[in-house]
Amino acid sequence: MGRIADDKIEAIRDRCDIVEVVSSYLPLKHSGVNHQGLCPFHQEKSPSFNVNSARQIFHCFGCGVGGNVFSFLMRMEGLRFPEAVRRLGEKVGIEVEEEAVSSDEIRRREERERLLQINEVAGTFYHQTLLSDESGGGGRHYLRQRGYEGETVRAFQLGFAPEARGVLEKHLLEKKFAIHVVQQSGLVRPGKQDRGHYELFRNRLLFPIHDLQGRIVAFGGRVLDDSLPKYINSPETAVYHKGQTLYGLYQARDAMRQSGEALVVEGYFDVLALHRAGFAGAVATCGTALTADHARLLKRYAGKILLIFDEDAAGRKATFRAMDALLPVGLAVSVVAMPAGEDPDSLIKTAGEDGFRRCLDAARPVLEVFIEDQLRINDLSVEGRARAAEQVLERIRRLPGDLERSLYLQQLAGLTKLDVELLRSKVSGGSLVQPQVRRAVAQTLPRQRPSAETEKTQKYLLRLMLVNDQQRRCVREEGTEGFFLDELFRGLAEYLLEREDEDGRLPEDLFDASLDEAHQSLLASLKFQDDQGWADNPEKILSDCRRAVSNYLLKRRLQEVDRLEEEARNNNDEAALMQYLRERMEINQKLKKKL
Ligand code: GTP
Ligand code: MN
Repeated sequence: MGRIADDKIEAIRDRCDIVEVVSSYLPLKHSGVNHQGLCPFHQEKSPSFNVNSARQIFHCFGCGVGGNVFSFLMRMEGLRFPEAVRRLGEKVGIEVEEEAVSSDEIRRREERERLLQINEVAGTFYHQTLLSDESGGGGRHYLRQRGYEGETVRAFQLGFAPEARGVLEKHLLEKKFAIHVVQQSGLVRPGKQDRGHYELFRNRLLFPIHDLQGRIVAFGGRVLDDSLPKYINSPETAVYHKGQTLYGLYQARDAMRQSGEALVVEGYFDVLALHRAGFAGAVATCGTALTADHARLLKRYAGKILLIFDEDAAGRKATFRAMDALLPVGLAVSVVAMPAGEDPDSLIKTAGEDGFRRCLDAARPVLEVFIEDQLRINDLSVEGRARAAEQVLERIRRLPGDLERSLYLQQLAGLTKLDVELLRSKVSGGSLVQPQVRRAVAQTLPRQRPSAETEKTQKYLLRLMLVNDQQRRCVREEGTEGFFLDELFRGLAEYLLEREDEDGRLPEDLFDASLDEAHQSLLASLKFQDDQGWADNPEKILSDCRRAVSNYLLKRRLQEVDRLEEEARNNNDEAALMQYLRERMEINQKLKKKL
């Protein structure tokens, strides 16, 4: 997609009213300077979702999300930035044509458009066949026998591909699609030696796979008996990439947003069964492992993922692969264990919704399951436990939250009986299998969670940076790492500095497409705070922030010194011991002075 010109984006933003746009999704009530409503992004009973008309921003005091009108639409509809701009452009009558689109790009777009049309026509044809055509009787019978009725058929637009050859081809050609284009969709394929064409799906129950706009991009098809292959799927095309598509997401995303949870299962039928039983936030991968793209997609709608894979070796492997994709993007991941041999579809049938809910309630954090698994496959010798710990540490390193890292380290220490401080030191580098002592103070800033007080101070400083060009210059000159302990805050500070013009001023609208959701939300929350009393003493805020950083570094060095001292003592290295004792005293003095 070509770039949209900045002045276009501004013109559209200026002509949209965020209150009006939000109101088309949820009722808002006037309350003081803001409009309030129930947050569409998390479940709540009293309204903490605020829209400020003067500033044209929104912010939820409950779940913390926020941003401008584009961010709102992106979250609400699962759109990317250019699509959100285009959508709002249409609304206010500003056409978004893109700069310099190449003829290649135009050709690709036309191809995608045609494929979507073919899938739509085919989907309707298959759906009608299942609903009412004589040739769809087998499909209807099969579904009924598995307990599915019209409601599910309609919600998922299920279809049936009749047994007879050439029916779909004929239908598509009647709709004036050229045969070579139809073949690109994979639904009709050339036969061998000019024996005509044949259809990919015959005598199969069809699951259309939708994109986030509800358009069909592919199909999965199941046989009605025990013959093989049980499932076949559309090939990847210009509109279908397995690694970026989740079956059922279009139907599940509202429920995910409401509950904040997503269920990830293995099969098409599991999605159907869960949906019907009221667990509507369920998706399945389309016969592949869960990818980082899938993880980012899920993160738009949910903060917590429940993995429900088969209780066998393959399922376990899939679970841990999913874990490796999901944890680094900051999602909480739990594992739901099914009784052996069951999947959600079969379990709901035998144990009912309550039985399934009991399984959900017994879900366990995936890393916990992983730790146990590693301890099981490695022996319990020191070496075996170290190997297991190594595997687990590799995962812990990738967790974005310090609190979580710390909790899992403790758990790992308990289970392996390895020293928690030793493990902690391994998280920032080094290997357990080949021990090495790291002497240098950490070069990079620690990824630690600041105390509530430090957090407040950092937010004050960010607010100062928003309104005061001079304080911002101060931060620029000394460097953000001297002021901000927390990566999220430091990231926003860096961003603000980037956005300054030549005169060192900030632009009016700071919500840029390049700013990720977490930073947008932080920015909106800062802009939503009106009191300015704290701003009387900017120097104090700057120095508080400086002190928080240096205190932290000193304390960290102190821990390092502890270790080094111990080592020197063990080696009977008197000189080194003296040196560390002296350093400890100096650090303690500095810390005391600063309090
Ligand atoms: P039912 O047996 O109808 O309940 O389906 P299921 O989803 O429980 O089947 P299963 O657990 O065997 O497979 C889980 C998922 O793996 C399916 O939904 C498919 O996406 C995929 N799958 C299973 N069998 C095949 C196959 O033969 N070929 C392909 N391409 N995918 C398959
Ligand atoms: Mn099944």
